[in-house]
Amino acid sequence: MTWQADADLSTLTTFGVPARAQWLCSIDQEDQLPVALQQADRKDLPVTVLGGGSNVLLLADVPGLVLHMQLMGIRHQPDPDDSNAVLVTAGAGENWHQLVDYCLHKGWHGLENLALIPGSVGASPVQNIGAYGVELADVLVSVRYFDTQSVQVRTLDRDDCQFGYRDSIFKQSLKQQAIILSVTLRLSREPRTVVTYPALLQHPDVSADMSPQQLFDVVCDIRRSKLPAPAVLGNAGSFFRNPVVSPDAYATLQARWPDIPAFATSTADVKVPAAWLIDRAGWKGVRRGAVGVHDKQALVLVNHGGGTGQQVLALAREIVASVEQTFGVRLQPEVCLVPAPESGL
Ligand code: EPU
Repeated sequence: MTWQADADLSTLTTFGVPARAQWLCSIDQEDQLPVALQQADRKDLPVTVLGGGSNVLLLADVPGLVLHMQLMGIRHQPDPDDSNAVLVTAGAGENWHQLVDYCLHKGWHGLENLALIPGSVGASPVQNIGAYGVELADVLVSVRYFDTQSVQVRTLDRDDCQFGYRDSIFKQSLKQQAIILSVTLRLSREPRTVVTYPALLQHPDVSADMSPQQLFDVVCDIRRSKLPAPAVLGNAGSFFRNPVVSPDAYATLQARWPDIPAFATSTADVKVPAAWLIDRAGWKGVRRGAVGVHDKQALVLVNHGGGTGQQVLALAREIVASVEQTFGVRLQPEVCLVPAPESGL
């Protein structure tokens, strides 16, 4: 385990913006973690944890120690409670899409809708990743993490993770306290497909009796057509969360914009696509120097090359102000801003 001084972080996040870490240390064995944390504590250095870097915008150089989590390994065991299920445990450093692909080929189903989501397994419970009608919480059994306060490894069962839309306990009370080590999922040995999401139903290859492989292919197809590959165009997926508004607020919006789309939530509140709001406010494809709004999905901010975190932040702030002025709805970031700006977005 070596500490690298003044390390380049520009290739460690999918936005590809320039930033350096005072110190960078890769963690590929669990027992390295308490040692690195203790060393940082002795030197009085703040610690920042980085996974796949696909949901992070670096706004400046990062002081202290950056831990690059690279705990690998995928294990499985029969589910004692369900002979049709398998329990799959993956290390935090595994690539999410590779895990989805691996499970599909093993005949373990349930992750197909979550294909091609960039990032690492360790980041997946933090924001409860979700796409095309499935979210991680639907298949998650438990999360093992290192608790920096008690200096112990702990396990949280799904029901204790406080999962919500792009939300979990790891973003709330355990923020800065939990470093995720591994995730255990319950997958089905029987082919099972969830085809409820509007964009899936509109696809010509989708049918009620399609195979998991076909579903996986359709999801990859839709994502590739709308979302830029980070290796080609720097981005962090959806930059904003879809705002959730009250039924009254939605009725007011709908009276003015009758074609405004909406998704139901578990309460009476309504989720409105931020992409639609940003698109309608005229931002799709807009460029501000080296950064801009993707021309196929208005929710994605992109780095055309040579852009900085501050430039992306300035664009995001312009969009927030414009959407608020047009629709009276204030967008919140989905991407983690590091370091968090004092004045918010
Ligand atoms: N729309 C527009 N303009 C656009 C793009 C979309 O008007 O430029 C409209 C569409 O017509 C549709 C609605 O917005 O009515 C929703 O679009 P889409 O199905 O593409 O989904 P989204 O709400 O924009 C969310 C997730 C994505 C996920 C997709 C599919 C969030 C913040 N984003 O996007 O997640 O892939 O649904 O489930 O919830 C991510 O988190 O990084 C991500 C890509």
